[in-house]
Amino acid sequence: MSEMNIKQSLKATGIGKRYGNFVALDDIHLDIQEGEFLTLLGPSGSGKTTFLMILAGFLAPDAGQLIRAGQDVTRVPPEKRNFGMVFQGYALFPHMTVAENVDFPLKLRGMKPTERERKVNRILDVVGLGAHKGKKPTQLSGGQQQRVAIARALVFEPELLLLDEPLSALDKNLREQLQSELQRIHREVGTSFVFVTHDQGEALALSTRIAIFNQGRLEQAGSPRDIYERPISRFVAEFIGKTNTFDLNNVQREGNAYARKIGEHWVRGESDRVYVQEHLVLAVRPEHLTVDDTPRTDPSFNSLQVTVHERVYQGPITLMNLRALDGTELQISVPSHNVLSSGSAGQSLYISWPISAGTVLPY
Ligand SMILES: Nc1ncnc2c1ncn2[C@@H]1O[C@H](COP(=O)(O)OP(=O)(O)OP(=O)(O)O)[C@@H](O)[C@H]1O
Ligand SMILES: [Mg+2]
Repeated sequence: MSEMNIKQSLKATGIGKRYGNFVALDDIHLDIQEGEFLTLLGPSGSGKTTFLMILAGFLAPDAGQLIRAGQDVTRVPPEKRNFGMVFQGYALFPHMTVAENVDFPLKLRGMKPTERERKVNRILDVVGLGAHKGKKPTQLSGGQQQRVAIARALVFEPELLLLDEPLSALDKNLREQLQSELQRIHREVGTSFVFVTHDQGEALALSTRIAIFNQGRLEQAGSPRDIYERPISRFVAEFIGKTNTFDLNNVQREGNAYARKIGEHWVRGESDRVYVQEHLVLAVRPEHLTVDDTPRTDPSFNSLQVTVHERVYQGPITLMNLRALDGTELQISVPSHNVLSSGSAGQSLYISWPISAGTVLPY
């Protein structure tokens, strides 16, 4: 939409929030960049909604500031922030039609009727509900109702759209359909979105950037690829996707290269950082591991002897639970057409992976 307001990014610095002795948010520094799709992801109770409410102005932080265009907006009331909000199962006005629901924020702002009608029609087209504007909410599906809520939050051209788990009440098919709709709407309107979910697949698929929350702290913010491939903590590595973890206690180290012997073989890992911690781990995604019946001699690979503990046939792939000689448990998935996907438990095999595919992290 060409006539959208110039969007400012919002900067959160040192945001803290306590409830009594309980620290709900601890020193959050996060910039919301112009036009981005930022997802807040983390376990239940990690502070995502609290942070969103602070961005919206419904909750005042105990520490820190929100800065927009060089101005401190920390104490600006919600209605003066010009942010749109969509909550999980956000109720539409049941007695109003779709068009009247969407018109509501414009009416509140005292806009002229002709202007209002034009904006309502346009945003309803964007969310694909142009043909439903005369209906009441009860005559719509759950996904259509959620799209009305999104249209109502976007119609006044907010500088920021805040969405708190807007898709979580929907069934899987509808959720997937609305995920791509949300992405399209984001592209079309160009507004910055801050989206809360605890569905990691949703976060990876939709976001330009993901911020991982854990117990009131921001663990890492980065592109989906950064978060998945270059996690900076064990929490992030284990929270997003599956990961295999080797204990690197009392590891041998040289610069940012680390090595530990398991049986006959060295497990080696590298890191962008040089760690001072004694106790480290090596995290490897299952898709980097390959299984073979002989060790791999390529020096750019790690190769380890393992025994098969269990195989779980899942159609196209078979999950294999393996155990290294030091007891480390590993899980890999192999195509079911691989002959090694079947065989007896207790069988001895080798796994290998490129050294560069592992990530060394503090324990
Ligand atoms: N009004 C309150 N009084 C006391 N504690 C609160 C209050 N509001 C939130 N909390 C606590 O703050 C923590 C963070 O809550 P928040 O709602 O931000 O979590 P969340 O990450 O959104 O979780 P979920 O994924 O379950 O929605 C929780 O432990 C919660 O119990
Ligand atoms: Mg929440």
